[in-house]
Amino acid sequence: MAKIELKNISKKFKDDTVIQNLNLTIKDGSFTVLVGPSGCGKSTTLRMVAGLEKQSDGEIWIDDTCVNDTPPGMRDVAMVFQNYALYPTMSVRGNIEFGLKNRGVARGERDKLVKDISEIVGLTPHLDKKPQNLSGGQRQRVALARAMVKQPKVFILDEPLSNLDAKLRNQMRTELIQLHKRLGTTFVYVTHDQVEAMSMGDEIVVMNKGVIQQADSPMKLYHDPENLFTAEFIGTPAMNTMQMRDAQGLDIQASVGIGYVGFRPEQALINAGPDSEGYTVEGEILTRESLGAEQIYQIQSRSGVFFVKTFLAPVVTADHVKVTIPYEHLYYFGLSGERLRSGVQANRKQLATVGGI
Ligand SMILES: Nc1ncnc2c1ncn2[C@@H]1O[C@H](COP(=O)(O)OP(=O)(O)OP(=O)(O)O)[C@@H](O)[C@H]1O
Ligand SMILES: [Mg+2]
Repeated sequence: MAKIELKNISKKFKDDTVIQNLNLTIKDGSFTVLVGPSGCGKSTTLRMVAGLEKQSDGEIWIDDTCVNDTPPGMRDVAMVFQNYALYPTMSVRGNIEFGLKNRGVARGERDKLVKDISEIVGLTPHLDKKPQNLSGGQRQRVALARAMVKQPKVFILDEPLSNLDAKLRNQMRTELIQLHKRLGTTFVYVTHDQVEAMSMGDEIVVMNKGVIQQADSPMKLYHDPENLFTAEFIGTPAMNTMQMRDAQGLDIQASVGIGYVGFRPEQALINAGPDSEGYTVEGEILTRESLGAEQIYQIQSRSGVFFVKTFLAPVVTADHVKVTIPYEHLYYFGLSGERLRSGVQANRKQLATVGGI
């Protein structure tokens, strides 16, 4: 069992506050992914959980223990980094069992652990090789195995796949998901890639500038973003968002407090039939990207450029198109980017029209 709680955590480097009053509960046995742009504080947050960095303020709890004063080695947390330094002169076996030897684990038990874990991560045929004779993916597995033999309560993985090529990265993603299922241990994974986050996590924590924007399941983040940042961060392509514009002499921003309106590229329809209810805008197709099952169009409308994505549909060859966004798929955000829900629903049709998207 390992639940992690961060309570009012702040972190300063000299006068620079990089984490501000962060509160987060990482559920026992979850695969939690921290995602956000470079420099937003993901690694710093996890290094504090592992005890490699001390928070300036707040408490970190692992299960029922406040670990503020617990040294890293005693926290029962194993960390795998992007640059997993393997010992080059040691064999795979030597690398995996190094920590166990240091802890004085007896030979018989060591051998059994190395055997079991090598089997799990698929390294059994490579135990006698040196790291330089392994592929990138195999080296990454050694780093994982080295963390696994410690049998920690929590695995922390900080961008562990970013040195691998795209194909191997996909394969290792699947393997990590399976590994998590098999071990049932709490995994906390860091990436700046939202696709990776969405495909791996059962809980995703979106961060920006040291502040949690939203912590939710992938589906909730996608369908129900709390703010403009999350809406624009999640999705491929991300949500189209535009500033509400004054129209027909109405000061909408001042009167209703709506700052932005958005829609997902895959919710818009191109040249839909007359029965389709929604806000309609005309535009010119600038680019077409056909990925087989899906097509992505970049469209210039009178209020800006946006993306539309269709699935299993014939490629639209016309340049001038009509795009319809069903009213129920329009999202509204306040002037500071917070999601607006109440009161907006009834007015959607009117708002879309006067919004001028
Ligand atoms: N030891 C340090 N001293 C001073 N500033 C630091 C230190 N470590 C991190 N920072 C700063 O803290 C902020 C957060 O850094 P962090 O490494 O946590 O970001 P990240 O989200 O992991 O980014 P990336 O995706 O690039 O790895 C950055 O502005 C960084 O410059
Ligand atoms: Mg980092």
